[in-house]
Amino acid sequence: MSKIIVTGGAGFIGANFVYYALKHRPDDEIICVDSLTYAGNLMTLEDALKNDKFTFEKADITDAEAIDAVFDKHKPDIVINFAAESHVDRSIEDPGLFLRTNILGTQVLMDASRKYNVKRYHQVGTDEVYGDLPLDRPDLFFTEETPIHTSSPYSASKASADLLVGAYQRTYGFPATISRCSNNYGPYHFPEKLIPLIIGRAKKDETLPVYGTGENVRDWLYVEDHCKAISMIIDNGRVGEVYNIGGHNERTNLDVVKTVLDILGKPHSLITYVTDRAGHDMRYAIDPTKITNELGWVPDTKFDDGIRLTVEWYDKNQEWLDNILSGDYEKYYDKMYSGR
Ligand code: NAD
Ligand code: DAU
Repeated sequence: MSKIIVTGGAGFIGANFVYYALKHRPDDEIICVDSLTYAGNLMTLEDALKNDKFTFEKADITDAEAIDAVFDKHKPDIVINFAAESHVDRSIEDPGLFLRTNILGTQVLMDASRKYNVKRYHQVGTDEVYGDLPLDRPDLFFTEETPIHTSSPYSASKASADLLVGAYQRTYGFPATISRCSNNYGPYHFPEKLIPLIIGRAKKDETLPVYGTGENVRDWLYVEDHCKAISMIIDNGRVGEVYNIGGHNERTNLDVVKTVLDILGKPHSLITYVTDRAGHDMRYAIDPTKITNELGWVPDTKFDDGIRLTVEWYDKNQEWLDNILSGDYEKYYDKMYSGR
């Protein structure tokens, strides 16, 4: 039985991990630490809050005193850091917040983990730290040895955090692992990101903003497969190692948008091309050989099945989406897309 602190557990992947752990790790206690930014939503954790193996602590990972108090109270065995500012477009608007949360927050968590002798710290990283691959070289994939080469303030902040984790591991013998996953999709995904944004808008027959030509490729992974991989890493991953996570589900953005429209029975004429994202990465593609060979991880859900499940989930959980769309999100959409 382990006590696991899950930071960012009120966000998309963190919340999916909370539910994964409550189901698949029934002996463990899960403590979610989240400051509930615009991306954190307690409604997402409603069912978890009914489970006596789950506790929620509202705290900011950059607040060393608050984090110390949480660690002192719970004495965790394992810490998994999902908490981050995660949206590339927002990082282009306001880099400072990304550096604070993603880099300094990681430092605060690692210092507390050292002080309270945490047995294992896991940093949830991203494949965006590798930069991008050219469209005309489908033979190339990101491996753990691919050099760090970031494009956005978001990816630079995540790469900085990874480097800091590596430095703590080498300097202090800190028991850390890092994973770098490709694009996730599935339940509780905040509707600023491509897939939930187009599901929500297509359902209302609104235009679907596709950046640039729509030829950019992302490597989509159903979120539960990411959670399974992290669960395997905290159990059997080797300290000091990086593990790439991805399931070879490469799709152009245009393909993804058209697939969602077809599932919903909506016309492709809703697609609207808008000004490209500054510094837009062309292609992401993960080589997951290491995690497959070392830990036996393979994804369970193919894109065609996962995307259907996701559209169905948003259909059944309209209240969750409405709750978000009724808040500050409307103002965000106008700010980011008007005149684009
Ligand atoms: P998200 O934006 O949906 O959720 C982030 C969560 O972190 C929110 O609940 C938010 O309230 C919380 N948070 C933010 N700042 C905080 C702070 N200072 N203190 C405490 N809590 C704070 O993000 P996500 O998409 O679930 O991503 C989770 C992690 O996975 C991030 O580290 C991200 O970089 C990484 N990642 C995401 C993807 C993806 O496709 N979404 C892929 C690979 C890696
Ligand atoms: O690869 C992992 C990363 O995936 C994570 O580290 C990030 O946290 C996560 O947000 C995601 O980053 P992307 O930038 O790839 O995701 P996003 O959903 O913002 O965009 C996916 C693609 O769709 C990208 O090429 C930009 C494009 N796009 C996005 C939006 C929001 C559009 O064409 N139109 C849009 O309105």
